[in-house]
Amino acid sequence: MAIIPVELAGRSYEVKVAHGLLQDIADHAAPFLRKQNVPIVADANAKSHWGAVIEASLQTVGKEPHWYEIAPGESSKSWESLARLTEWLLEQGVERGDHVLALGGGVVGDLTGFACAILKRGCGFVQLPTTLLAQVDSSVGGKTAINTPAGKNLVGAFHQPSLVLADLDTLSTLPQRELRAGYAEVLKYGILGDAEFFDWLAENGPDVVNLQASALEHAVGTSVAAKARIVAEDERETTGTRALLNLGHTFGHALEAETGFSERLLHGEAVALGMVLAARYSARRGELREADSQRITEAIDAAGLPSEIAALGMDATGDTLVGHMLHDKKMDSGTLPFILLRGIGDAWLAKDVDLADIAVFLDGQLQAH
Ligand code: GLY
Repeated sequence: MAIIPVELAGRSYEVKVAHGLLQDIADHAAPFLRKQNVPIVADANAKSHWGAVIEASLQTVGKEPHWYEIAPGESSKSWESLARLTEWLLEQGVERGDHVLALGGGVVGDLTGFACAILKRGCGFVQLPTTLLAQVDSSVGGKTAINTPAGKNLVGAFHQPSLVLADLDTLSTLPQRELRAGYAEVLKYGILGDAEFFDWLAENGPDVVNLQASALEHAVGTSVAAKARIVAEDERETTGTRALLNLGHTFGHALEAETGFSERLLHGEAVALGMVLAARYSARRGELREADSQRITEAIDAAGLPSEIAALGMDATGDTLVGHMLHDKKMDSGTLPFILLRGIGDAWLAKDVDLADIAVFLDGQLQAH
């Protein structure tokens, strides 16, 4: 088992990464279960796979789960769902010193974390992420949010969990496409800050997506450790360090917006394309070697992720995509910061990017292949 500390003054916690954590949840979460009733907010699919396992463990220590099911999908990250969930937590008598368990992917973690941030001005919660994307990214670091008609994640709070249990067994019930999309975020840690990890993934990536146990534990553990380091250094994304986690996200967000935030392009797939674009744009500026840009494309191809925006068949131009970027929540006084690359493992925050040049670059990419 990997136990990764997230060091935050007064709010430090551990992320445990291993197979079989949920079957012993009563032991792992014991310090956070002070009452007999245990409120658990769960994605309906995750509950159908793991509900009985969790119940069996809690019952061995006389705990009684009280379930609240969330419909799968981004539409659950709404004001209405937040209101219903907080009302339910109040009905359950959840107090500030209590902990709510969140079982599922990013949607459940973000919604439950936000409800816990505002319930009685803040109660505790434990993340039980069941998707690769949630295990390596959204469950760690305390970003919680809902979506509004104006955009995704525009209303939220920083609220750190008290414990994260990333049970690798849960990945065996994930659809392959979703698993690969989560793998894009694993690759991201190598590309942005760890060339050795990138080399390891270039070699062992197929084992990771095929869920080979030791490869998976190494990939998730290394990713979480990278995220924990970054969050400990810049919890509220004020110094530029945490912003590096947005590698591929500005391009990716524009592609998601153009495809309607739909099944047509999953978030992780958009991030994969976004990282290819960030690498190619960095090479175009003369700051990244073409060979490194090519290696990034190859690693993304090898994972079965999309790497060419022309292949998406979008009816878009560079200007349309830049138009979406203007609504990006990272816009700052008319400029949009981009995460660019100087090498594999060497990302940096560029604040001098001209959006007109990005539009020309994207036109080239939309026609190139
Ligand atoms: N997902 C990006 C972050 O946690 O900062």
